Amino acid sequence: MKGMLLCGGSGTRLFPLTKVTNKHLLPVGNKPMVFYPLYKLKEAGIGEILVITGTEHLGDIVSLLGSGDEFGVNFTYKVQDKPLGIAHAVGLGKEFVGNDDFIVALGDNIFEFNMNKLTERFQKDNRSLIVLKESKTPERFGVADIKENNLIRIVEKPKKQISKFVVTGVYFYKSEIFNYLPELQISERGEYEISDLHNLLISKNRLSFSVEEGFWSDAGTFETYYEVNRIYGKV
Ligand code: DAU
Repeated sequence: MKGMLLCGGSGTRLFPLTKVTNKHLLPVGNKPMVFYPLYKLKEAGIGEILVITGTEHLGDIVSLLGSGDEFGVNFTYKVQDKPLGIAHAVGLGKEFVGNDDFIVALGDNIFEFNMNKLTERFQKDNRSLIVLKESKTPERFGVADIKENNLIRIVEKPKKQISKFVVTGVYFYKSEIFNYLPELQISERGEYEISDLHNLLISKNRLSFSVEEGFWSDAGTFETYYEVNRIYGKV
């Protein structure tokens, strides 16, 4: 299995903290934010990781992460010229991934899910898998519509209440997803939405889900950035 760590995007919700640096390099507790999802990919036994980032801070990302020796992994880097969305960033990994299974982690997601358990489940089921978590602010995320334990659809940042179960930024994918990416259309906010890919996979019965209890948060708004620092700040 391979891994992808997404560190692109513009980080506008954390401006001006992100005026001169990449969001994923900001400190959370005693470490840069990106170390947290990186360690979780490592925990899943992944040694080959593609790091995706924009043009502005590529140098800083490489300065921090290097070849991967320090972390016991091997990094490959790829530039996303414009922040055209998570699904677009994932698409840049096509050649790197080849026919392997892979895990994508969003660089601003901090989570304590059991990666071995999830990997086992993913490999047994033989479909792509998304990880859901109950949230008090589902309207900020992709939200799962579940009926009788079946995943019906994902609604990105819904205006009306759908459910409390949000799609976290850790995705277990089969390489077949690259066949579906070209079908996606750009959204109103100018991005190729990962939720659109997930809806396509649902329509083909190629997506499963796991609802997890462990800690999870993104760190991309002042509120959540403060919260993860409050939790991980205790050294
Ligand atoms: O955190 C989980 C949520 O992440 C999901 O529930 C949503 O379904 C998903 O759309 C996403 O929502 P956000 O709007 O919060 O995503 P954001 O734009 O903050 O991007 C999250 C990460 O993805 C960010 O750390 C960097 C990476 N990214 C994002 C974009 C738009 C890229 O690498 N390239 C991009 O073009």
